[in-house]
Amino acid sequence: MIKTLTAPKRLGGRLRPPSDRSITVRAALLGAVAEGETCVLQALDSDDARAAIDCARGLGAAISYDGTLRVHGRGLRGLRAPDEPLHCGSSGTTMRLLAGLASGLGIACVIDGSPQLRKRPMRRISEPLSAMGAAITDTDGCAPLRLAPARLRGIDYTLPVASAQVKSAVLLAGLNAAGTTVTREPAPTRDHTERMLRAMGADARTTGPVTILTPPDRLTGITLTAPADFSSAAFFLAAACLHPDADLDLHDVGVNPTRTGFLDALRAMGASVDASAEREEGGEPLAALRARSAALHGIEVAGDLTARMIDELPIFAVVATQASGTTVVHDAQELRVKESNRLEGLVAQLRRLGARIEATADGFIIEGPTPLAGADVDGLDDHRMAMSLAVAALVAHGETRLHGAECVRKTYPGFFDDLARLSEV
Ligand code: S3P
Repeated sequence: MIKTLTAPKRLGGRLRPPSDRSITVRAALLGAVAEGETCVLQALDSDDARAAIDCARGLGAAISYDGTLRVHGRGLRGLRAPDEPLHCGSSGTTMRLLAGLASGLGIACVIDGSPQLRKRPMRRISEPLSAMGAAITDTDGCAPLRLAPARLRGIDYTLPVASAQVKSAVLLAGLNAAGTTVTREPAPTRDHTERMLRAMGADARTTGPVTILTPPDRLTGITLTAPADFSSAAFFLAAACLHPDADLDLHDVGVNPTRTGFLDALRAMGASVDASAEREEGGEPLAALRARSAALHGIEVAGDLTARMIDELPIFAVVATQASGTTVVHDAQELRVKESNRLEGLVAQLRRLGARIEATADGFIIEGPTPLAGADVDGLDDHRMAMSLAVAALVAHGETRLHGAECVRKTYPGFFDDLARLSEV
């Protein structure tokens, strides 16, 4: 699908972005091994959410899903071997967390995904899971993953990459392992798994980069309202900062500090984003965010901050094209192994619009501000690339044709409708 986009006269209004993908996926998988019902009000409805739900169903959890997600859990040892391969679609989160969870279930199964997901690295989970005793084989480091029944033992694992998916895979395997499981991360990554485990009654203690999980006797189902996904909100925060006449109110947005590096980066660039109505829901912080037009300047992003905005780096690159001076991003090698190679993709697609961007070994350098001009660009079958390019089109002169726009379904099926509703043309 090609979307034709032009700069609106004004951007304004109120929006609740779609619910959090990371939390919805975790609720489906953890709910399946909890006792009783796990109920997620306003659960995300998107390709990734459906993939996680289908996999949990494949393992025997009874799930209904009509805006509210209800998972009838089978307990920590109650799930059964699926009749068919568990298909994760293009959801890397589902695949990596599921592999960890399924490793401890004492069942055989095959975990597979789309051609895109089959290209993404899985050795990062098969290695620690094997070290825990899992009988897991990958296919040249990728999916399909094959599991045979095995008994696991806890592990003290230092993650070689900052990855919440790897950390979560190890912790979920640790639920059914003998002895405690410890994860040590090189930089802080999203902690939704740890928060949800605690909410379900598990003893998962985090001190700085270290999490220690004692295998619980049981997990208890919880009820929560999913916050809006900060990563989806980020596109509208960026659009409001960049557009010369913009004022957007986003509400019920998840502002878990392991996710909001982009907010810190925007503010460091001079953006006007106010947070209010802060509260907590199911162990996760939420806030209303108001973003308005602002003059921005370039900054340098590295280390922990890069990790806390890893999914927002594509939209951050778009923002940097409009900031005065140089923006440099370091420590972002992981961008090469997301839904697309986002480093290469950003350089190729943003240059088509006229941006001055160069890739480095571990990130990118952007010189701004550059007037952008509409052109043909490709979403590269990567939701975050497509939405970032759509925001770039809002500040470009002339028409941008975004090819492959349908990939936004992965996390934000209503993205173009929301954009149209908030745009005054
Ligand atoms: C996610 C973790 C991150 C992130 C992804 C979602 C999660 O991946 O990029 O979009 O929900 O755990 P990595 O763990 O590979 O960094």
